[in-house]
Amino acid sequence: MLLNKKILLCVTGGIAVYKAVALVSKLAQSGAEVKVMMTESAKEFVTPLTFQAMSRNDVYFDTFDEKDSRVIAHIDLADWADLVVVAPATANVIGKLANGIADDMVTTTLLATTADVWIAPAMNVHMYENKAVIRNIDRLHADGYRFIEPSEGFLACGYVGKGRLEEPEKIVELITAHFTTPRHLPLAGKKVVITAGPTRERIDPVRYVSNFSSGKMGYAMAEAAEALGASTYLISGPVGLAKPAGVTVIDVESAAEMLEAVRAQFDDAAIVIKAAAVADYRPKDVHPQKMKKQAGDSAIELERTTDILKTLGTMKTHQVLVGFAAETNDAVDYGKGKLASKNLDYIIVNDVTDPDAGFGKDTNVVTLLSKNGTHQPFHAMPKKELANVLLAAIMKEESEQLHDR
Ligand code: CTP
Repeated sequence: MLLNKKILLCVTGGIAVYKAVALVSKLAQSGAEVKVMMTESAKEFVTPLTFQAMSRNDVYFDTFDEKDSRVIAHIDLADWADLVVVAPATANVIGKLANGIADDMVTTTLLATTADVWIAPAMNVHMYENKAVIRNIDRLHADGYRFIEPSEGFLACGYVGKGRLEEPEKIVELITAHFTTPRHLPLAGKKVVITAGPTRERIDPVRYVSNFSSGKMGYAMAEAAEALGASTYLISGPVGLAKPAGVTVIDVESAAEMLEAVRAQFDDAAIVIKAAAVADYRPKDVHPQKMKKQAGDSAIELERTTDILKTLGTMKTHQVLVGFAAETNDAVDYGKGKLASKNLDYIIVNDVTDPDAGFGKDTNVVTLLSKNGTHQPFHAMPKKELANVLLAAIMKEESEQLHDR
């Protein structure tokens, strides 16, 4: 859930600085991008090099040391952050922030950011109970700052009481919960359109041509997109699955109906995922009445349906277009061909002969190919889990693309 979240950690001077090192490590392991800023006194406890190694980013502490002449570092970092965490926060930094004082890099950045700021105090129990500190914390609460309360226990100064920096695991839990509030979810405000299931191409009022697609993969993708905060539209062929909560489901029957439904949702979509197994052919003539059996053999003449995905590939402006390909041999090679010929951004290929893959199964084994030439194979896993993993991989590659541009 912290994937690609930009977290600015402001470290101020107290013995708990060592815990901030573990915090950076855990945030990075959860997928967040972490940048660290330190006060001069924090540097007395742990060197910037430690934080640089843990965060794999430059560490900032001097307002006047501009590493990039094109930007003003403290403003740039203040704007960059999705969330600012002050941990450990000393009585001093709390006092300065409560009074609008900005006399070093941390405090100037804290005044400049419009991101949410979480403050995790750590200090001696008597300092924490001091009336001035309580007043400053109350003021900051009223100003909209969030606090991660210190825990009780042995303090470095020898006292037992409230003042220990909350454990890094707990801070990561709280930060994760913060980002799972609806407005912070990674796909919040984005429209995701997914197609799923088979299509049915009518022969007469009681018969049709179709395939064995269960719709499970597409439904799992829709659930995953919805859980990530997207406004999700699921255009579904006939399947026997429950409608995923929160998702707008548009039921269709034939390839022609699916084409119209997808077109209608396409313009303002951010991501379009075509997991449906669309019929490539339909009966040329649909008999208005039930066909009666005749002596001897019979044949149905078929005509091609429109390739929906290929059509979308020609209409694409900003949309990220994702296709699926079910193959029985040379899956990756065929996948690469379809990626190019249909003008896709990604294709998810699966070899349906694999015992853990294919129609009706609850698991799948796929490889994600991108137009940038990346190639990510995924081992067999439940379709619901795979849907999350695939969306995360696509979002990661997309954000790296944006970053590189
Ligand atoms: N697709 C589509 N419209 C069609 C056929 C396929 O949108 N009329 C989409 C599917 O939803 C899927 C992808 O295209 O995302 C699969 O492409 P493709 O492999 O070309 O479909 P197949 O019918 O399996 O093609 P082939 O028989 O050539 O392997």
